[in-house]
Amino acid sequence: MTQVKATNITWHEGHVQRETRQQLLGQKGCTIWFTGLSGSGKSTIAYTLEHALVQRGRLAYVLDGDNIRHGLNKNLGFSAEDREENIRRIGEVAKLFADAGLITMTSFISPYRKDRDNVRHLHEQGNLPFIEVYVCTPIETCEQRDPKGLYKKARAGQIKNFTGIDDPYEPPLKPELTLDASQLSPQDAAATLLRFLAHRGIIPQDSAS
Ligand code: ADX
Repeated sequence: MTQVKATNITWHEGHVQRETRQQLLGQKGCTIWFTGLSGSGKSTIAYTLEHALVQRGRLAYVLDGDNIRHGLNKNLGFSAEDREENIRRIGEVAKLFADAGLITMTSFISPYRKDRDNVRHLHEQGNLPFIEVYVCTPIETCEQRDPKGLYKKARAGQIKNFTGIDDPYEPPLKPELTLDASQLSPQDAAATLLRFLAHRGIIPQDSAS
């Protein structure tokens, strides 16, 4: 649980409505939350979708786990507490980006259901769409691909608490979408997501093809 230390603070409302920003951008802000094992293809799909959206004139941005851990979250490791704080912070950042009107994508293992559900709740409270995408690529494929050589290290005991090896991963129970990167190319996954976004009214219909 996060200890609340901020006291004597007051919410300051701006003069620009969210709807005005949405009209300006021609899209609705939202968070697309990718979750899945390391090496499952989350970031590849997210960056492919980001590119596809920007090519269609839609503003999108990826918050990537490895990248965020180089800066904002560089003081966090991989204990359950640190992973919880990692997801809490990025959930708040994603909500801000979505409120700003961006199609925001997050690519974090986010192994704990409770932490992801908290972020969902945060978005629901803020009346912002939260789209959970479970990248369910089997661990055998992730381990075979091993793009960063981390599974090999984890098997050799050189990394402790590695998700899927000696640390848990709790799959979503009701994700909005499930994609298996061992069955689907990043382009096909991005196309599926474009159609989903158009169907939800987040981007115009003619941006989906
Ligand atoms: S999360 O569990 O807190 O959501 P996050 O997505 O930010 O994790 O970071 C995962 C990335 O950190 C992995 O893709 C991998 O490159 C690296 N990593 C380093 N140590 C670990 C570990 N013990 N478990 C999982 N990933 C790790």
